[in-house]
Order: sequence, then structure tokens, then C-alpha cells
Amino acid sequence: MSKKVGIARAHTNIALIKYWGKRDKDLFLPMNSSLSLTLDAFYTDTKVVFDDSLTADEFYLNHQKQSEKENQKISQFLNLFREYTGERTYARVDSLNFVPTAAGLASSASAFAALALATATALGLEISREELSTFARRGSGSSTRSLFGGFVEWDMGTSSADSMAHPIDDASWDIGMIILAVDTGKKKIASRVGMEHTVQTSPFYPMWVETAAQDLKEIKAAIAQRDFERVGQLTEHNGMKMHATTLSANPPFTYWTADTVRAQDAVRQVREDLGLPAYMTMDAGPNVKVLCRASDMERLVNGLTEYLPTEQVLTSLPGCGAYTLSDADWQESQGTFSRGGDHD
Ligand code: ADP
Ligand code: DP6
Repeated sequence: MSKKVGIARAHTNIALIKYWGKRDKDLFLPMNSSLSLTLDAFYTDTKVVFDDSLTADEFYLNHQKQSEKENQKISQFLNLFREYTGERTYARVDSLNFVPTAAGLASSASAFAALALATATALGLEISREELSTFARRGSGSSTRSLFGGFVEWDMGTSSADSMAHPIDDASWDIGMIILAVDTGKKKIASRVGMEHTVQTSPFYPMWVETAAQDLKEIKAAIAQRDFERVGQLTEHNGMKMHATTLSANPPFTYWTADTVRAQDAVRQVREDLGLPAYMTMDAGPNVKVLCRASDMERLVNGLTEYLPTEQVLTSLPGCGAYTLSDADWQESQGTFSRGGDHD
């Protein structure tokens, strides 16, 4: 009996310049390049065991055996590695989300980054992180960026071989993020479905692609100059434009709820009350993320909790890139999970 084991942790990331739309659905090639901030507070731990006694791949998320559909998604992802390395055995995948699943808090990003690194580790695949991100991409586009820490760019590339992520800046200059988790339930429209419908039907979509390229150029310059306010302004503007494409899709849809709008109002009110820079962005879900200076976070949180329930106001500092875990770390992770250390 032979077993090959890999365990890894990857943090979620929140896009400041969004990935929204694919030019190739099968290869997960995006319409535009994107840029994100990796978050320390939310992550996924994943263990992969290739085992020659298995007769099929098995996938457990948060200790629960997953549906055939979810299982197949994982199998297809593992096939990419099997084809590349010549591995012939099936694997058991165990994953723990320390982030709500499918709530627009980027569980798919940390998930496929952790799975890619754990799989590569199990199979002894020695490739660069950038190249590993081309594998992660095929599970979920945003996961490319979770292999790295701080500010990370996913370059749309020209082909499957060069559509990859790379680190831009470690974000160690007083950067923080407040998460207004107004609803952590499962979203109704997956990002994948929402972006496809938007590409196909929104007359605003071509403008999205054009202006996202300009936003990216400008935010990279602002990051290089450590111009926080400019980074924030570009973040807020870009996020709003992404959501304008959903409202202009046909039929139209939105990821926002009344609570989203209430949280956005609270951000506007608090930044006016306190005179502090704070910029919001939303993903494919109802929750609001606020980019701020880490040193302003406490005052902003105090301000926001005057308008929103305390338990909905979470904070994070920038996170590091994905890394491998030992068996002892994995045991510890399971302990943390069972003590309710997850955010589900
Ligand atoms: P989110 O905003 O959480 O990223 P998505 O709809 O984009 O929401 O992705 C959620 C999907 O990602 C889940 O339905 C599941 O298919 C997949 N996923 C989430 N967590 C894991 C995990 N730990 N391992 C493998 N797949 C996962
Ligand atoms: C709004 O990476 O979840 O969060 O590649 O189809 O799995 P798939 O989509 P996914 O989409 C993320 C969309 C977003 C913006 C972003 O993270 O860049």
C-alpha cells in the first residue's frame, strides 16, 4: 500500500481590481487582469492523500462528504496534476474552511490555492509558485492570487501557460480590511454563473474590460507610491463598476441585499463622521469589505458598530502566501475547527 500526502494552508483574498468574466471557460482565462489583497483572518486547510487502495476520489469539506457534483469538480482538478505527473492513483481530499463557504468571502480562492499546493506537495511536483497558479486557476480563477501574500496581480496572459499570478507588494505599510459580514449564508448565484451571464448580456461589459485595464495600471502605480487614498479610490470605483454590469445584465440581477446597502451607508456615514479614509468593495455576495489603514481600524470599527451589529464587523490584516503544513499542524487545525474556530 502506498500513500502520498500533502497538506497546505491558503488565505482568502479580496480583489481590489476585480476579475469579472472569462474569455475561455474551460481554461479559466479571464477577460481582464486583476489585483487583490490576501487576508490573514480567513483561510482553508486542505489535506490530500493519493492512496493506491482507493477506487475513486473522495472529497470531504468541513468533515462532511460532498455531493457527486462537488466530488467531480475536485476529481477534474486532480486530473490536471495526474496528467502532468503521470500519477495514476485516486486521492482523498479533506478540507476545512475557516471562512464561510460560498458567501462571497472568497472560499473558492483559498480552497483551490490550498488544494493546488497540497496536491503538488503530495506528488513532489517542483514548479514555481507562478506556474502552480496556472493549475490553481483551473479550479477557480481567484485562487491564483491566494498562492501569494499582500497585494497580488493575476495577469490575464496570452494563453493558459502565462495566465498566472505574481506578488506585487507585501502590503506591510499600514493596510487593513474590515469585513461587514451582513449575511454569511450561501449565495444564490455563483460567481461563475453571474460573470458569464454578465459577459453575454450586459451592454456595459466592453466598457468594464476597457476601464479595468486602466484601473489596474493606476492602482499598481499607487501601490508603488504607497498612496493609500488613491489605492482606495480606485478600489471603490472598480468594485462599483463591476456591480453596474450585473444591474445592466439582461435579465438584471444583483448580489446586494437591503443589508448590503445599509452597510454601505454606514461606511459613508462613518468616514464622514470620523474624517478617516475607508473604501468599500463588494464581491459576488452581499458582504461589504472596507479597505482602510490598519492604524485606523479600531476607530472605524467603533464607528461602524454604532450602525451595525457588532458580530457582523470583522477585521483582518494582510495575509501571507500559501504554505505547507505538517501532520501536527493538521491535527491542531482540526482541533481549532471543532472548537468553532471556523466562521461558518
Ligand atoms: P465564494 O465567494 O465563497 O468563493 P463561490 O461560489 O465563488 O463562493 O465558490 C464557492 C465554491 O467553491 C463552493 O460551492 C465549492 O464548490 C468550492 N469550495 C469552497 N470551499 C472549498 C474547499 N475547501 N475545497 C474545495 N472546494 C471548495
Ligand atoms: C467577484 O474566482 O470565484 O470575487 O473562476 O468561476 O471560480 P471562478 O470564479 P471566482 O470569481 C471571483 C469573482 C470576484 C472578483 C475577484 O475575486 O476577482
